[in-house]
Amino acid sequence: MLLGLLLQRAVLSKEEKVRNKRGKEQVRGGTKHRAAAIAVEEPPEIQRFVNTIIVGDAEEVLRALPADSVDMVITSPPYNFGHSYAGDLTEDTREWNEYFDKLYRIWAECYRILKPGGRIAVNVQPLFSDYIPTHHIISHQLQRLGFLWKAEIHRLGQLAIALYALHQVHLGVH
Ligand SMILES: C[S@@+](CC[C@H](N)C(=O)[O-])C[C@H]1O[C@@H](n2cnc3c(N)ncnc32)[C@H](O)[C@@H]1O
Repeated sequence: MLLGLLLQRAVLSKEEKVRNKRGKEQVRGGTKHRAAAIAVEEPPEIQRFVNTIIVGDAEEVLRALPADSVDMVITSPPYNFGHSYAGDLTEDTREWNEYFDKLYRIWAECYRILKPGGRIAVNVQPLFSDYIPTHHIISHQLQRLGFLWKAEIHRLGQLAIALYALHQVHLGVH
């Protein structure tokens, strides 16, 4: 009896807080209902890349991979902070628009190679001294390409790192 009353109360208060939840969701037109993935057959050409480490420019390397062939991309791209990474002639320093244009071309390749329903997780850090919110800009780029935003983790303190996990679907598929 008590449990019944408690459950009823929980249901009531939910309804009291947001009346006509479904109807309001439709007005907002969010992306929640686009989250269903469609099954695709893995292209056999991906097999030659399995269990392989490839060293090179991500933009070029990704171009060689077949479309709809990868389940998940996890990346920590350069932050444009001026670090001296081995083999990086730019010294991790590009004009900001050029830096983001390069990243955008790489995200576009990631979108192409991910299977519908695939995920991308990006670890980035903004450069406070330049007032550049790298994580927001990347998030916007990914959404522009058609990725659905799913979650992010901020670690505030000495560093501010945001991890984005975006769910990729083929748009128009419900
Ligand atoms: C923030 S660090 C990530 C390091 C990585 N998590 C690791 O443990 O080795 C960025 C890395 O991206 C590499 N990098 C820079 N430009 C690149 C490019 N065009 N394609 C692929 N990797 C690149 C850098 O050399 C550096 O190792």
